[in-house]
Amino acid sequence: PDRVPFHGHHQAGVVTPQQLFAGFAGFDVLAEDRDGLVELFRKITHRTRVLTAGVKPRDEQVAAERPTPDSLSITVGVGASLFDDRFGLSGHKPRHLKAMPAFPDDRLEPSRCHGDLSLQICAEHPDAIVHVLRDLARETEGLLRPRWRADAFLNPSRPSGARRNFLGFKDGIVNPDTASSREMNRLMWVTPSCGEPDWALGGCYQVLRLIRFHVEKWDRVPLGRQERIFGRHKASGAPLDGRRETDAPHYRDDPHGRRIALNSHIRLANPRTDRTDDSRFLRRSYNYNDGFDKQGRMNLGLVFCGYQQDPERQFATVQRRLEHEPLAHFITPIGGGYFFVLPGVRDSDDWFGSRLL
Ligand code: HEM
Repeated sequence: PDRVPFHGHHQAGVVTPQQLFAGFAGFDVLAEDRDGLVELFRKITHRTRVLTAGVKPRDEQVAAERPTPDSLSITVGVGASLFDDRFGLSGHKPRHLKAMPAFPDDRLEPSRCHGDLSLQICAEHPDAIVHVLRDLARETEGLLRPRWRADAFLNPSRPSGARRNFLGFKDGIVNPDTASSREMNRLMWVTPSCGEPDWALGGCYQVLRLIRFHVEKWDRVPLGRQERIFGRHKASGAPLDGRRETDAPHYRDDPHGRRIALNSHIRLANPRTDRTDDSRFLRRSYNYNDGFDKQGRMNLGLVFCGYQQDPERQFATVQRRLEHEPLAHFITPIGGGYFFVLPGVRDSDDWFGSRLL
């Protein structure tokens, strides 16, 4: 379907099947008081409602052609910095929201991190994303200042199944079951048992990590070693003890890591024990590819995007297990942020943040 529904208890773009293109951006809010913030959120709501439905002619001022909905979703998150004294919101911050900390293997660049507000804009064509960014720039002038942006996309699935990232491995094979409301209420959405403020019900947390790949180095690593680093076959995507990409690895039968190394990426990330089960979260990542750097090295990697109920219990716990993993030699996290994805806009009278503000 061409149109992703906008209204709902949860925002679109989280459990929505991944569109081919994505723009991620962090902004600072220039509005000076609560009224300005309300105006900003009302404007973003209005434009999101209109744009995701397909622009009507009277709204069309600049675009030469009327874009179709193009499976467009616009997902709005807020950063910890929005809850400072400016807007009197300090008592209303989601419990687990804080600025993304630097982990030991990180080399974070301040100009690519954080923000009062985050947008994830996804569509089937890149021009739809540019169109949204231009529309919002015009409509929110004076209220928002861009901070960072990452344009990203999915590679085709070859030969079939999960798509490959730029290290050449199938990525996104294993994820929580978004069709299971039980699993989603346990791992994803803020529910009454989470101890969060009431206004946050139906929201979730977004962890963004801009992760650069050192492909020049990676491309010198023999295939067998690359496969041991991930714990999966490169060609098929199957775990090293299996045949098909959807086969589950059997860690219990391999306690010493003879077939799938104990320090392989998949085994560290998800050891599949009862104790680690509630650190799982939804990955919805995209690739980026941005020319050469000043030293002539390829500037590309992953916009890692994780959705979850609690970034400490989930993302940070998994990240700590991955600390100094063999893969860490070939990747460097350079940016990103922690954001709280606002609850959905329920109907045509509702707006983003209505229960917060
Ligand atoms: C699995 C790549 C960073 C968490 C995988 C897989 C690949 C991969 C190829 C196997 C296929 C799959 O199940 O999707 C990468 C690359 C990364 C990266 C290239 C860095 C640039 C991270 C980070 C985290 C993470 C930062 C979390 C902190 C996971 C998880 C799985 C996984 C949870 C699924 C493991 C399982 O359930 O078997 N990753 N990943 N990855 N990765 Fe990563």
